[in-house]
Amino acid sequence: MQRLQGKVAVITGGNSGIGLAAACLFAKEGAQVIITARRQEILNEAIRQIGHGAIGIKGDVASLEHHGEVAEQVRARFGALDVYVANAGVITLTPSQQVTPQEYDAQFNINTRGVFFGVQAITPLLRDGGSIILTSSLAASKVLDGHAVYAGSKAAIAAFARNWALELRARRIRVNVLSPGPVDTAIIGKLGVTEEHRPGFVQMMADMIPAGRLGEAHELAQAALYLASSDSAFVNGIELHVDGGMSLV
Ligand SMILES: NC(=O)c1ccc[n+]([C@@H]2O[C@H](COP(=O)([O-])OP(=O)(O)OC[C@H]3O[C@@H](n4cnc5c(N)ncnc54)[C@H](OP(=O)(O)O)[C@@H]3O)[C@@H](O)[C@H]2O)c1
Repeated sequence: MQRLQGKVAVITGGNSGIGLAAACLFAKEGAQVIITARRQEILNEAIRQIGHGAIGIKGDVASLEHHGEVAEQVRARFGALDVYVANAGVITLTPSQQVTPQEYDAQFNINTRGVFFGVQAITPLLRDGGSIILTSSLAASKVLDGHAVYAGSKAAIAAFARNWALELRARRIRVNVLSPGPVDTAIIGKLGVTEEHRPGFVQMMADMIPAGRLGEAHELAQAALYLASSDSAFVNGIELHVDGGMSLV
């Protein structure tokens, strides 16, 4: 039996990394998958990779219009949905004294405001018993160099999750946070780490993780599948740390 048979799932930031791995796994488990992201070309490639009739909606989670469009497309094509994964996110690392208002706003607009208004727009379409998953970060609870703004932008969403879990209890909609440690995805390059320096950077991170390595996107996808499916039917309002034990050290 496929674990998401007959379910409709929206995954923001689904054209890369953790979001793409989750989209592939959810589709394999029987879900109708809808992914969103800004880059159309990468979105098209991802749709091909996911298969199973997945569809893509181009847009920016920082835009309220985009969330309205996603909700409208879900309503028009499928009537309702069962799973919403607010996964799109960005990171820049800067010591607090050097953070500009633009850098601050960019991270909060995408990582925090984008999650809040994405969930606000989609919630009326979620079927009773549905699942909302918010992708946070280990950085929300662990102090790491240069992470203050990113950490703040991610820490807020755990508070959203706890509030929503109670606000939505009458509809039996569960709201949980997936909190990854370092995972080997394109986000490393987006941090400004060049291909030349990537092996050294990855090794440095691996040395900080009890597991001795970075996570892989498919491992986060498995955790997302757990939170999306009835396997976690009695799990609500938690932060699931998938970090190779890094939060312990
Ligand atoms: N990898 C890690 O080590 C790690 C650790 C902790 C937490 N996380 C979190 O996990 C999530 C996924 O990260 P990842 O590692 O898979 O990174 P990734 O490969 O860079 O993927 C990020 C995704 O977010 C989308 N995105 C970014 N800004 C967007 C925006 N304004 N509107 C719509 N989509 C946007 C990107 O697509 P477009 O660029 O095409 O829009 C892409 O699909 C993020 O929330 C990240 O903060 C990652």
